[in-house]
Amino acid sequence: MTANGELRSAQWFGATGRTGMAHRSWMRSQGFTPEVFDGRPVIGIATTWSELAPCNVHLQRVAESVKRGVWQAGGFPLEFPAMALGETLLRPTAMLYRNLLAMEAEELMRANPLDGVVLLSGCDKTTPGLLMAAASVDLPAVMVTGGPMLNGKYRGTDVGSGTAVWRFEEDLVAGRMTQEECVFAEGCMARSNGHCMTMGTASTMASMAEALGMQLPYSATWPAVDARRYETAQRAGQVIVDLVRQDLRPSAIMTRAAFENAIRVNAAIGGSTNAVIHLLALAGRLGVPLSLDDFDVLARDVPTLVNLQPNGQYLMEDFCYAGGLPAVMRELAEAGLLNAEAITVTGSGIGANVADAPCWNREVIKTMAEPLQPAGTGTAVLRGNLAPGGAVIKQSASSPHLLKHRGRALVFDSPADYYAVSNDPELDVDEDTVLVIRYCGPRGYPGMPEVSNVALPKKLLLRGVRDMVRICDGRMSGTAYGTVVLHVAPEAAAGGPLALVRTGDWITLDVPDRTLTLEVSAEELAERQAAWSLPAPHASRGWTRLYCEHVLQADSGADLDFLVGASGHEVPRESH
Ligand code: FES
Repeated sequence: MTANGELRSAQWFGATGRTGMAHRSWMRSQGFTPEVFDGRPVIGIATTWSELAPCNVHLQRVAESVKRGVWQAGGFPLEFPAMALGETLLRPTAMLYRNLLAMEAEELMRANPLDGVVLLSGCDKTTPGLLMAAASVDLPAVMVTGGPMLNGKYRGTDVGSGTAVWRFEEDLVAGRMTQEECVFAEGCMARSNGHCMTMGTASTMASMAEALGMQLPYSATWPAVDARRYETAQRAGQVIVDLVRQDLRPSAIMTRAAFENAIRVNAAIGGSTNAVIHLLALAGRLGVPLSLDDFDVLARDVPTLVNLQPNGQYLMEDFCYAGGLPAVMRELAEAGLLNAEAITVTGSGIGANVADAPCWNREVIKTMAEPLQPAGTGTAVLRGNLAPGGAVIKQSASSPHLLKHRGRALVFDSPADYYAVSNDPELDVDEDTVLVIRYCGPRGYPGMPEVSNVALPKKLLLRGVRDMVRICDGRMSGTAYGTVVLHVAPEAAAGGPLALVRTGDWITLDVPDRTLTLEVSAEELAERQAAWSLPAPHASRGWTRLYCEHVLQADSGADLDFLVGASGHEVPRESH
């Protein structure tokens, strides 16, 4: 809506004279009748469909269902493409482009005659990217994520996307699996449309969108091929028309209370550490005060309730049949851990949405009384002289015996440097060693890729070692596991202390105490700092240069400094 309560699309399609004629006539080349310009809400459907983003490839069908709902409710739907980010193909990392998607989608929403938007996402970065865009434009918006794949099935067992890849790789290196078996397993793991069906980043961010109130209840969990995914999409088309009429915008939905809900839900589902970065960036767009420490403080009272890989046993299809996210939120609400009044796209508070949500399988969705893992075992925020800006560790994906650990550093300036020697039987490493992999942060790689959980050295794998402490300024896939300290800030490429660690230094990790300490004196670190120099820039032009010059550190969500905040939807000037 405009400030005087009119639909903003009327500025385009309701105009008289040459300008209005131009806006309407070219649209009619698509075969629309004149009635579509009668003042009904114009709904954009931002789709991140692409054959290069396999997790989103079915979004064209989802869009058709959304359109049905928009027409039904008296709106005028118009689908438009937004940058598709496929996690598995994009180099150096899809994360390098999350902010570009957010910027592109923001500008498209603002520059076009839209009154509201439905956001179609799926793969990891597409969900936060579109939410960030909608937050900065602040037009009424509903998200519809594409849903998870069906459970992977390999030789009679369930295999989870991502999570199984790490295990297959270790089994291959250790000789427990052949190359032919691995190729066969690839097809067994990804056997339908949809995003990763573990509680990886895509499932986590779909759940975050639902917990924030930006998707309809149950949207996060319907499998991509389930008819109810398409039913929900149609419902979303109806809902967005209502939201436009009510002028209910993302800024009224994604409040501090909603973020607190999302953080607690993330702890309850055993969600990805990537949610930390994405929620911080999203809050920055909305001007919601949120800090890295909020994730630790708010999650401390929340046990892990959802028994999904990589922390547990099951997969998203099982989670759906067990009752989905509403059943989890009901548990939190009944324990006083949900801000029930937080308004959602249904127009109701989230507490009302989930008050009667049933659970059909307590093996998959546990109770507060008998959780999968006790409160305080979610994502922890660490600080110390090695991470003055903070770092995170996913306790539920770590080995309990390593959460308090002291070891000597073995340092590499890139994952490639490490992998060049990781199979060397003479590598000076044992299970107590702390692997430091650096220059993997937002500026350093660039883009902060998911490379932090490097595979263990072959000689240790052959001895049966399955985990060791790793420290990195990059990220880790939500589907991965291991005792890995992530998101170290400031990153090495920004001159953080991680750049000053030397092989042989002692490092102490104390997760219960929330500390990460490099046992080197301040004087010695100052000397090393004086001898350190800034790495050469990665790019002299284009997006990568812009990104490296403006990206914020992980503890601020790795958004670009000039994209923080909102510009709103006003476009005061005519185009013709
Ligand atoms: Fe797309 Fe995992 S690769 S969700």
